[in-house]
Amino acid sequence: MKNSFNIVLLPGDGIGIEVIDATLAVLEPLQARHGFHLSYDRRQGGAHHYKDTGNAFPDSSMLASEKADAILFGAMGWPDIRYPDGTEIAPQLDLRTNLDLYAGVRPIRAIPGLPLQLANPLAEKIDFIIVRESTEGWFNARGKGVKITTSKGDEAVHDTCEITRRGTERLFDFSFRLAQSRNKKNPEKGKVTCVDKSNVFLGMAFMKQIFHERATAFSDVRTDHCYIDAFCLNLIRKPWEYDVCPMENQFGDITSELGAGLICGMGYAPSADLGDKHGLFQPSHGSAPDIAGLGIANPTATILSAAMMLDWLGEKHGVERLIEAARNLEDSVDRAFVNRTLLPFDIGGKDGTSEVTRSVIGAIG
Ligand code: NAI
Ligand code: MG
Repeated sequence: MKNSFNIVLLPGDGIGIEVIDATLAVLEPLQARHGFHLSYDRRQGGAHHYKDTGNAFPDSSMLASEKADAILFGAMGWPDIRYPDGTEIAPQLDLRTNLDLYAGVRPIRAIPGLPLQLANPLAEKIDFIIVRESTEGWFNARGKGVKITTSKGDEAVHDTCEITRRGTERLFDFSFRLAQSRNKKNPEKGKVTCVDKSNVFLGMAFMKQIFHERATAFSDVRTDHCYIDAFCLNLIRKPWEYDVCPMENQFGDITSELGAGLICGMGYAPSADLGDKHGLFQPSHGSAPDIAGLGIANPTATILSAAMMLDWLGEKHGVERLIEAARNLEDSVDRAFVNRTLLPFDIGGKDGTSEVTRSVIGAIG
């Protein structure tokens, strides 16, 4: 049985480097406890790499990522470092395209012990997953925008949203399978909500049609539908009613940050970018220039992303001990926070990156 896994590390910029180092420290005792081995291949890439070399992401980093068993990613990008056209460098988007990482899995789960962000006590039950389509939609326009120039100068820009049958079918199939597996662990779960703007856009009506087509193959999963604007309202009014919520790329980008706001912020929001072959795991946040280098970045999101990585590797290779390690790691995060003595800076406390890391290590059962 495969017991050793090659992990490409892409720490990137700013707090990306800090939260990756913290996560590696947590993974050390976990490997010893559960008897598996991770070998790391640390690679270059990011805004500062672009500034130094003129290349944001070397081919060697892309090649290593393609060959790895999994990729653990910090954050890339820096607001002051831009391409000549004014956009930011974002190798994470190239990785999604090149490795066909079509499902952006963003769990929004209230960690017991952390302050509730909504007054309604049901907020402690928040536990849903945004599945962000990550290879098309409005992000299709990246690098392809068409500027309309007349004799008067620049008049308009056309950015095109693309919705394909293939991209949409696999997004929904992934989401239905995810709902099935969540239902096995918790009978209250097992619902997929299609979130779109099908009242206005033809591409979104096409998405909704495909949602209902694919639902017939998953008759054990409950289906639900919500327009994106109403979904934003419901995320504040009753987010505990949602389970698996697939949607177009840009909608998923925005609502996953709104979701993170419901659970104390970006420091608690993990993510996995998954394709049929490859998996990249990263916190949902960016490089946070405002707090980089201060030792106060919260590594919890990255630690939870590493738990998702272990679970994915375990399922993919049929290695039960990795699945157990993933569960232990997630539970250890909960144990670290549950008695309300660990208080990171992002919730107004005084605990920095190293205190959070030490507490999670101490809680590994
Ligand atoms: P951001 O997520 O880096 O920061 C937003 C806010 O959340 C900031 O106030 C920051 O201090 C806070 N925050 C984020 N992570 C935190 C953590 N772990 N602990 C405590 N507080 C945390 O988003 P922003 O400021 O819009 O972007 C900064 C840079 O990151 C930009 O260059 C952007 O392009 C890039 N970016 C990269 C992403 C990626 O690599 N996947 C994703 C999002 C942004
Ligand atoms: Mg975002």
